[in-house]
Amino acid sequence: MLQQLDLIEKEALAALQAVNDEVDLGGWRVAHLGRSSPLMKMFDQLGTLPKEERPSIGRRANEVKRALESAQTSRAGALRQNALLRSLQMERLDVTLPGRPIAHGRLHPVTQNLREIYSIFADMGFQVYRSRDVETDEFNFQLLNFPPHHPAREMQDSFYISGDHPKDNPVLLRTHTSPGQIHAMREYSATNPENPPPVRIILPGMCYRYEQVTARSEIQFNQVEGLAVGERITMGDLKGTLSDFARRMFGQHVRSRFRASHFPFTEPSAEMDIECFVCGGVGCPLCKRTGWLEILGCGMVHPIVLHNGGYNPERYTGFAFGMGPERIALLRYRIEDIRYFWTNDMRFLEQFI
Ligand code: PHE
Repeated sequence: MLQQLDLIEKEALAALQAVNDEVDLGGWRVAHLGRSSPLMKMFDQLGTLPKEERPSIGRRANEVKRALESAQTSRAGALRQNALLRSLQMERLDVTLPGRPIAHGRLHPVTQNLREIYSIFADMGFQVYRSRDVETDEFNFQLLNFPPHHPAREMQDSFYISGDHPKDNPVLLRTHTSPGQIHAMREYSATNPENPPPVRIILPGMCYRYEQVTARSEIQFNQVEGLAVGERITMGDLKGTLSDFARRMFGQHVRSRFRASHFPFTEPSAEMDIECFVCGGVGCPLCKRTGWLEILGCGMVHPIVLHNGGYNPERYTGFAFGMGPERIALLRYRIEDIRYFWTNDMRFLEQFI
């Protein structure tokens, strides 16, 4: 029996050498240390042995059992160690490698310009007022003193929304941000119709015109409208505010000038030019040899428009202006084609940090 135990030990240890993973090890344990393993059968037989043989055989059987158990424990440790080494080899991670840089997004050049405009006007006390892109003819034109068939409508053909709308009040995409003047004045004046509060806002947003797309005009573009209404607001306030804006936007020494113009919703009306920052006013291709760059339209709010907004024109006056940030960006960065702004070509966009 002692020889049998030697053999059991030898075979079991030899079998353990062939075990290569945890599953095999489980199988090995059942086969060599389990209930019906040869070793356990030896323990079962102990009771049938003559009394004198029992101690030596029993001792040896226990020895073999402990030897197998400790061999199993160390094999399990070795297997774990191997598995760890293998995974370290296979999923090698070099923490000293330099990281891959994250591609930073950036703001669209027009958004950058818009934010600059907001911040300049914010310093002068103007709040941003958001108005809708889809308008009625009434707001886009009529309340702004463009009666039906007025020739000034010629400049602002629009995209009309089909549907069951009144013939004399079709729905359209706004052609300028000026209809927001009416919405804003009505909202402000409704808070206190007898004594409407002063207004000092800018109204940014997309405008749409049904035009031929060219290097200089798009069918979709931003405008930033400005509106100040109150008592004793004069043309001097308009000129001071806008000249200051031009200096903040284009440089402390830039000169500006106002030329008489016409808009149905302002009276008097003007266009503002700034001195060409490329040639300093001498004349160059950018300013078409005039020395001046046109940057916005403006004027004193027409009494009819004040009235339509709920402000008594006998008591209140105001000024308004409207500029195109894409046009300003074109001039500032000397971009030769306005279509680049909405083509989303990364080679163009990545130039603006
Ligand atoms: N709405 C005018 C345009 O789009 C610009 C403007 C706004 C002019 C406010 C005067 C006052 O051409």
